[in-house]
Amino acid sequence: MNQHPAHSYEPRRVILASHREASAHVAELFASTIEQSPQTVLGLATGSTPIECYNDLIRRHEQGSLSFASVTTFNLDEYVGLAGDHPQSFRHFMQTHLFDHVDIDPARAHVPNGVAEDLNKHANEYDLAIRKAGGIDLQLLGIGHNGHIAFNEPGASADSQTRVVNLSLTTLESNSRFFNSPEKVPRRAITMGIGTILKSAKIVLLAFGEDKAKAVAGALEGPVGPQNPASWLRTHVDTTFVLDAAAASQLSDGTGI
Ligand code: GLP
Repeated sequence: MNQHPAHSYEPRRVILASHREASAHVAELFASTIEQSPQTVLGLATGSTPIECYNDLIRRHEQGSLSFASVTTFNLDEYVGLAGDHPQSFRHFMQTHLFDHVDIDPARAHVPNGVAEDLNKHANEYDLAIRKAGGIDLQLLGIGHNGHIAFNEPGASADSQTRVVNLSLTTLESNSRFFNSPEKVPRRAITMGIGTILKSAKIVLLAFGEDKAKAVAGALEGPVGPQNPASWLRTHVDTTFVLDAAAASQLSDGTGI
């Protein structure tokens, strides 16, 4: 397989002193996108990283300045085997951290169904639903310690679509902090593919902390290829990395120090 990207772009880098400023920056971008285009289609992420950004959006909604009434959202991923009411499911995360606090139409707030009877069929339908909605206008991403985006682990190809994947040992270890015991972490997930993500019009990757610095440097300055799935973002024409200084600390230009 040809792993060399057809095009290589330089993602924009926004490096801010703290995770609070970085979250506020991304929240502002999401809020202004919704204000300018109330029917926008957003791609959303889970994990600890976007929580402050979601809190900021909730605050704006409570203050009356932001409505999600016509917004459509598609989340990146879900654990296989966890129903939406499971406390560690990503559906539950999204309800708790955003959807339950804003005026989004539940029918337009999509999260992959980890207990779908036919997961492969559901995965194909998820991609189809994104296309039918007109594609994602603005996609939010975090990054895993191994460079994963959504649950696209190292090895994922640039044209991968929404599908069922096995989680790597690194991810199982990182995510075990959310479960009572490591054995309880589901071994598989349903995730948007790299190809699905790259079809988004605009992509924003948010990362905080020194423990993400290596993955961020690999994504922005290592080779573009499957060893660091976030590096595929350099084949996308409109991607911005929003980082706090610690997450930027291994970049060669020293901006994060
Ligand atoms: C999770 C998710 C990713 C997320 C990443 C980082 O497993 N599948 O979408 O970006 O890991 O999570 P955190 O923000 O908690 O560091």
